Amino acid sequence: MRKTMKAKIALGVCSSISIYKACEIIRLFQKKKYQVQVIMTKNASRLVSPLLFSSLSGQNVLIDPFEEEHSEKIAHVNLSREISLLVVAPCTANMIGKFASGVADDFLSTFYLTVKCPVIVAPAMNEAMYLHHQTQLNMKKLQILGVKFVEPEEGYLACQEEGWGRLAAPEKIVEAALRLIQRSESLKGKTVLVTAGPTREFLDPVRFLSNRSSGKMGYEIAEEALRRGARVILISGPTHIFPPQRVEFRQVQTAQEMEKEVVKNYPKADIVIMAAAVSNFKFARMLPQKIKKQEFEEKVKLAPTQDILKKLGKKKGKKVLVGFAAETENVVDNAIRKIKEKNLDLIVANDVSAEGIGFESDLNQVSIVFPDGRVVPTEKRSKLEISQRVLDTIEGIIGKKS
Ligand SMILES: Cc1cc2nc3c(=O)[nH]c(=O)nc-3n(C[C@H](O)[C@H](O)[C@H](O)COP(=O)(O)O)c2cc1C
Repeated sequence: MRKTMKAKIALGVCSSISIYKACEIIRLFQKKKYQVQVIMTKNASRLVSPLLFSSLSGQNVLIDPFEEEHSEKIAHVNLSREISLLVVAPCTANMIGKFASGVADDFLSTFYLTVKCPVIVAPAMNEAMYLHHQTQLNMKKLQILGVKFVEPEEGYLACQEEGWGRLAAPEKIVEAALRLIQRSESLKGKTVLVTAGPTREFLDPVRFLSNRSSGKMGYEIAEEALRRGARVILISGPTHIFPPQRVEFRQVQTAQEMEKEVVKNYPKADIVIMAAAVSNFKFARMLPQKIKKQEFEEKVKLAPTQDILKKLGKKKGKKVLVGFAAETENVVDNAIRKIKEKNLDLIVANDVSAEGIGFESDLNQVSIVFPDGRVVPTEKRSKLEISQRVLDTIEGIIGKKS
């Protein structure tokens, strides 16, 4: 009996010494019944024969867009319509740079510009190349555009040094990749309203009060809810992240604008996840002219902003209402108090004073706090994994409510 193959994945392979690990990556995808179309760079084909990858994948390896076998179709455009994911592993510093600047001078870099599906990149390089500000900047640019990364590991490198830059284990790459495409449809028919990012409270035309929220957590939740089949409305303060495709995006600046937009969209939502770091304070008066140094004491006064969650909690109905609490002390105690005060179903509490997690970071470690005082702490994980834990928990609540 013919085995039915699931979706097709494109695997970009660059000229890194860790190229041999791409063989295992192909095998692992195949074990999960995915078809793999390998795209090699020319330099990669100088390290290893394409025959190895065509034999393993059962498909011709694509290398040069000018040597297309079926010239009646433009292969890179055609393939982009067929695949559900682009994985680049190993990815060189060179290819990260090309993706980040839109250079399209070979098959893989041209193909990258044609795909609309998720893209996940596993860098592999010498530590100096990985930590070079140029590479780090290129990766940041790609993250802003929604490209996901599987961080390289620390260990013994091909350059015979210990350091960062070793390609992540194939199992880890495949697991992270599949997390992006395995759709459960578990939120189909639901509308999820997510808020993200900081707000800006203006003092005068040039100055504002804000906070360090990057918006990454809320954007990950919005993307994950989309993957689960939900209609997603994302209301965001100013961030550097591009909104995910298919999300209904509303840009706001101030806490007041955030409140207005949330209240307007609230009736449509089944699930409301307030991951934005809405300012608790604003300036009592926004001044029309740039304020002078000597006027500060007299003119600068703070006033509280509206507590949006509390307002929503008063007319919750059957909605699931989830808050995020960024604290620097008594994280869990404060969360329990807020759940009661604001009539919430859940609070995701995180200690933003902890090093390497929370604000601006790609990682987070949170405690999921329930109205009955139960606290479920997570490990330190990527914000994507945390978003999955949060949505799994919400789905559990929906199950109990319905
Ligand atoms: C044996 C060998 C191993 C290499 N390993 C890496 C690597 O792990 N990561 C990297 O970024 N560049 C590595 N390079 C340098 C890249 O191959 C070089 O930057 C090349 O231009 C990248 O081409 P590509 O991105 O089109 O594959 C290596 C080069 C050689 C000769």
